[in-house]
Amino acid sequence: MAALVLFGGGGDLAMRMLLPSLYFLEHDGLLPDGLKIIGAARSEETADEYIEKVRQTCEAKATVDKVWDDASWERMKARLDYLPVDATSAESLKPLRDKAGDGPVTSFLAVSPSLYSRIVTAMKAAGLAEAEDRVILEKPVGRDLQSFLEIDNAVSAAFSEKQVFRIDHYLGKETVQNLIALRFGNTIFEPLWNNLTIDHVQITIGETVGVGDRWPYYDEYGALRDMLQNHMLQLLCFVAMEPPSDLDPDSVRNEKVKVLRSLRPITHEEAERVTVRGQYVAGESEGKPVKGYDEERGADSDTETFVAIRADIDNWRWAGVPFFMRTGKRLPEKRTEIVIQFKPVPHSIFDYEDDEPAANRMIIELQPEEDISLTVMNKKAGLDRRMQLQPIKMSLSWGFKGKGDTPPRRRIAYERLLLDALNGDSTLFVRRDEAEQAWKWVDEVSEAWADGDVKPQEYVAGTWGPDAADMLMARTGRDWNTRDE
Ligand code: BG6
Repeated sequence: MAALVLFGGGGDLAMRMLLPSLYFLEHDGLLPDGLKIIGAARSEETADEYIEKVRQTCEAKATVDKVWDDASWERMKARLDYLPVDATSAESLKPLRDKAGDGPVTSFLAVSPSLYSRIVTAMKAAGLAEAEDRVILEKPVGRDLQSFLEIDNAVSAAFSEKQVFRIDHYLGKETVQNLIALRFGNTIFEPLWNNLTIDHVQITIGETVGVGDRWPYYDEYGALRDMLQNHMLQLLCFVAMEPPSDLDPDSVRNEKVKVLRSLRPITHEEAERVTVRGQYVAGESEGKPVKGYDEERGADSDTETFVAIRADIDNWRWAGVPFFMRTGKRLPEKRTEIVIQFKPVPHSIFDYEDDEPAANRMIIELQPEEDISLTVMNKKAGLDRRMQLQPIKMSLSWGFKGKGDTPPRRRIAYERLLLDALNGDSTLFVRRDEAEQAWKWVDEVSEAWADGDVKPQEYVAGTWGPDAADMLMARTGRDWNTRDE
């Protein structure tokens, strides 16, 4: 029988995301037969106490989605167990090895990355890194290329690459996978997907939350390392990659790593022109007054809570097409979207003074809604002497919104990823060379900031970052998608 071990099983990630995801999979009958789920953490509690906490968190989440039922819970409960451990000690892990039984063990490290090296070394010594076992690593693995390599070397001393599943939960989001379907399941978009037709790409991950209690972690990482190195560059890869020959994990990841290798390095001289660092000061969020980052932290800090970057991909397909990325805390909305901005028509026959046809735009929205839409120009109905145009936004994702009144439940991204890891499918996980390449590019940015003493610029909580972020695009004659501003 297989086992899933959750290191940090009582922590925030496990309680908020992983265990509810497992409940949902259980509810849908998708967990492998006989799979045991073992929470492992420092806290000296009994299995019953732990299971009761798991029940509370799963019930709270599943009730909102109206899928809580006793039968599913009883099935899940029968799989659950708990063991207090010091995960960095092989001695302490031995009873866990015994509890996991004889089958393959998948271990999810939902703990501070600073412990990864010591934990995998202890796992190896305790027999939790045998040929059939797997390890799932939550981001961030390291805070720069060097620390990533240090951790990853310890990981690869214990596990072979095919046993390692580096999670980026954005890849578990339905729309990201739908982007693959859209690009490679249709013939009509791919011929347009290049620098002949596309003007630029924008990727926005806006969050309304502040850093709050997470500051001890966040202050060391900042928006560049927390969001851009992983989630944003992964989204960029899915937009920019060449068609893989199949959906085999290596075929997909080979294409993604080529994109990362083609990112133009950001030189120290350029950093000020193509990057923007910001930090929020007191303002308003969702109608309520909120503190600035320094006040939350209780001291002055040079950590950025906002970053905007212009990236260029130096290859045939994308030469001359800038990719603008921005992400931040305490922005006006929780919104994640990719905007594919097509070029305007080469010559307009609709010769109006102030009503030129708008260029086509595709918006791939991941949050708050999941949607893919395309804006096209259309004739306004009527007998006007001169033809009047209007933009029409067509949704291309009617299918995944569901046909009836009740749309399908929106899954937690971890559901897909946990299931894939349990099945050994690493297509939606990050390979070592991808992470390495992403760190390399991001390190150039952070080094340029350090060398040039580039400090974050202030922005008021509840706004879209420092003015410089608008300037980043305005300088090139473009602007951010301002739908709700
Ligand atoms: C995490 C970051 O990886 O992603 C957080 O560490 C961030 O800072 C979160 O809030 C955002 O995820 P989502 O799925 O809510 O967009």
